Amino acid sequence: MSRSLTVSRAAQLVGVSRAVLQRMIRAGELIQSEGLVDIDELLRAFPDARVEESGILERVTRIREEAFGRRVREFVLPSPELLSQRLLAQGEELAEMRRHLQAYHALVAAAIELLARRPASAALADEARETLERGLAQVLGSESDNRLDAMTDMLKVVSANVVVRPSGREFLVQGNDSILQAGLKAGLGLNYGCAGGNCGLCKARVISGETRQILHSDYSLSAAERTQGYLLLCAHTAVSDLVIETLEAGSPADIPEQELVARVRALQPLGPNTMLLHLQAPRSARLRFLAGQSVTLGLAQRGGDLHATWPIASCPCDERNLHFHVARDAGDALAERLFAGAVKSGDTLGVHGPSGDFVLGPEMPPRAVFLACDTGFAPVKSLIEHAMAAEAVERFSLHWLASRPDGHYLANQCQAWADAFDEFDYHAASGDDVARGASLMARRALEAGDAGASGFFVAGPQAFVDAAARDLLGAGVPAERLRATTC
Ligand code: FES
Repeated sequence: MSRSLTVSRAAQLVGVSRAVLQRMIRAGELIQSEGLVDIDELLRAFPDARVEESGILERVTRIREEAFGRRVREFVLPSPELLSQRLLAQGEELAEMRRHLQAYHALVAAAIELLARRPASAALADEARETLERGLAQVLGSESDNRLDAMTDMLKVVSANVVVRPSGREFLVQGNDSILQAGLKAGLGLNYGCAGGNCGLCKARVISGETRQILHSDYSLSAAERTQGYLLLCAHTAVSDLVIETLEAGSPADIPEQELVARVRALQPLGPNTMLLHLQAPRSARLRFLAGQSVTLGLAQRGGDLHATWPIASCPCDERNLHFHVARDAGDALAERLFAGAVKSGDTLGVHGPSGDFVLGPEMPPRAVFLACDTGFAPVKSLIEHAMAAEAVERFSLHWLASRPDGHYLANQCQAWADAFDEFDYHAASGDDVARGASLMARRALEAGDAGASGFFVAGPQAFVDAAARDLLGAGVPAERLRATTC
């Protein structure tokens, strides 16, 4: 019986991010073998792991809220708390039994080995007795290990772990999520199109594990594909832990050009000169993009269409909702129409793209440093949210320069990140000399951490980007660790 866990499951179990465990593995503080962490090894590294501290019960409650309709919950099922307690008790009981069985198996094997030596002496008989007694004492003396086993069993009830081959990346499927939804939420670049069972683009092969169809699909897999284990990730959820085989997008070249029509969900002022444009893609055609990329929006109107290319400010893990931070700009006719109130909630805009290579890349750096000026914060926000979803970056450093009065239009959001995460530092600065501001920020970022282990992401006006890039490269930051975009 395996006593090893995937990194995702181990992180969930002890209530830390995957990035924390991966850093410990790299530092030799936690041993990983063939991608798995031994449960005893985990207990050694986290001797005080407790179900109350890991937030598991809260997550169970939330998952249940999402999983069941109100009527079903009220009239048929016990309360979430009671169900959680029953599951935990059951898990503890099962873990106790499993440990006893393992120990008895080992004891019997040891006794057989001793007897095979044809014991004739009292000394050998004593040795056999002591071996059995030592083994029993070990079984009865490892209560905390039982507890960790029980927690693992409970987690298996509320979520399933999916390992993706050949990348080796993994994620958890919780609640009623499809495998596709769960993978996107975890920051994976899975291939998909409609997310509704029609296009076949999310086709993947299940190597092991059990799945259940949750969505009617009009797309037909061939008999050969079905025999080989192919299914549509958007139409199935995981019943048990899975290993699947599918390719993921690692670079902009892996993302096809797309065209769709999205509806304006909301237009909300973020400041006197900054507007949040919230678009929603139709259910049948989502936009596939990488965090940090841009799209071209088009507004049809009499006298000719208006177009503008803006960075997406939201995370691809929420692929139906597209956010943009639009600055008032006399030279941008589409922005002017938004500020003039000519576009209303419910109107439609054409979306073409995505474009740009301001992306995290397949190998996320342990430390990510973001330098943004004004609405250059938009693609940076997308990158940060994606990196958080993927739990791959260990330390974030955000420097935001405002060159106009409402330049820090989402300062509360940044402060909330800094308050919520130990490894997130936020620095705000103001000044209309953006080149000088960029140099100051670059210097502060270089002084604050290991430049060799950092990735640098710079977004803002041309003068800001040029100054920051010049100073970072001049200080020895390798060109491949620097990404920049103007906006
Ligand atoms: S994304 Fe189109 S069938 Fe799954």
